[in-house]
Amino acid sequence: VITKIRARQILDSRGIPTVEVDLHTNKGMYRASAPSGASTGMYEAVELRDGDKGKYLGKGVSKAVNIINDKISEALMGMDPQLQSQIDQAMIDLDKTDNKAELGANAMLAVSIAACKAGAAEKEAPLYKHISDLSGKSSTTLPVPAITVISGGKHAGNNLAVQEIMILPVGASNFEEAMQMGSETYHHLKAIISEKYGPSGCNVGDDGGFAPNISGISEGLDLVIEAIDRAGYNGRIKLAIDVAATDFCIGKKYDLDFKSPNKVGQNFKTGEDMIEMYSQLCTEYPVVSIEQPFDKDDWEHTKLFTALGLCQVVGDDLLMSNPKRIERAINEYTCNALLLKVNQVGTVTEAIEVVKQAKDANWGVMVSHRCGETDDSFIADLAVGLGAGQMKSGAPCRGERLAKYNQLLRIEEELGSEAVYAGENWRSP
Ligand code: PGA
Ligand code: ZN
Repeated sequence: VITKIRARQILDSRGIPTVEVDLHTNKGMYRASAPSGASTGMYEAVELRDGDKGKYLGKGVSKAVNIINDKISEALMGMDPQLQSQIDQAMIDLDKTDNKAELGANAMLAVSIAACKAGAAEKEAPLYKHISDLSGKSSTTLPVPAITVISGGKHAGNNLAVQEIMILPVGASNFEEAMQMGSETYHHLKAIISEKYGPSGCNVGDDGGFAPNISGISEGLDLVIEAIDRAGYNGRIKLAIDVAATDFCIGKKYDLDFKSPNKVGQNFKTGEDMIEMYSQLCTEYPVVSIEQPFDKDDWEHTKLFTALGLCQVVGDDLLMSNPKRIERAINEYTCNALLLKVNQVGTVTEAIEVVKQAKDANWGVMVSHRCGETDDSFIADLAVGLGAGQMKSGAPCRGERLAKYNQLLRIEEELGSEAVYAGENWRSP
């Protein structure tokens, strides 16, 4: 049973405070922490921050820490950590809001994940196995990693509007080979960027992708294609883009020059222009997935683009991992894949539920990190346990990104001959 819960403030990969929890049971101590995003939207569960401008520029989380140490700790004391849904429900009842504003999604998530780890230990099962038991399905599927190689948008200081260009080694025969292909391509890309833009072009963004000053998305895709070619993986690696278009939607238009230092150079595109641009990218390059191609509330253009059937269309801020928004998108055929960010939902139980909802609609599921991460590798076990088929955790560089990919290497090793790599079946593993 849960005997003690202690939280503290730690710093995430961007140097911004976040919540860490130590949850004790008779068996031992289980630790978890909450990630945090830059492109946070108004529909996601609320992250509690102190707002005291004198400390950490208002971003401290001491309120959330105190809530865990007092209210949450009191409510969960003595509970069996295997009863994940009861633990999560106890926190939801205590919170009483729709968006976790009272206790804070950062507080609730860290406790929920720590409890999940304790539950696995109580059962003497690996974490991914415990998660797949909780979801009622058994999965031993390793996801295809969506590896960020070029960063832009709010995650980097270059002029590129689009947030991420990712590579998907779908042609690997197992996860380990996928990481080898990803790492080799990343290093060839580094050399290519250095040749063309000088060594400073290889400086990286928040999630480890290179951030050269390229003029647009095609220039970035050309570089990546050249790197794949040099690495010898032509045809075996596909491309994905996270546009994060909400960040540069102004009124009803999209400003592809939103980061240009000289704001005279605006490059406004209509929703129709954007559809045309994406269609062209999908024909000219092996782009198989586009995330958040339009604004979070631009249901209309997202639906029009999805209907063309050119690639997987992933809803990030459109959905906010929120069951009501997912339901609307399913009913209206707005997109066809869920980006699962656990801190947008707030508890493990609710994360399992939204993945079920997406899978029942035959959607793809991509489990995702946030740009502000810690060394917690929970989402790796989650991606396997839920048989998501896809996981994005940034570049094959920087500790907090590798924490997840490396955990998948361990899981694959542990599963041995039972391990299945999603590979070409990444959209419906
Ligand atoms: P975020 O970025 O953590 O800043 O939201 C991740 C993503 O957009 O997929
Ligand atoms: Zn995104």
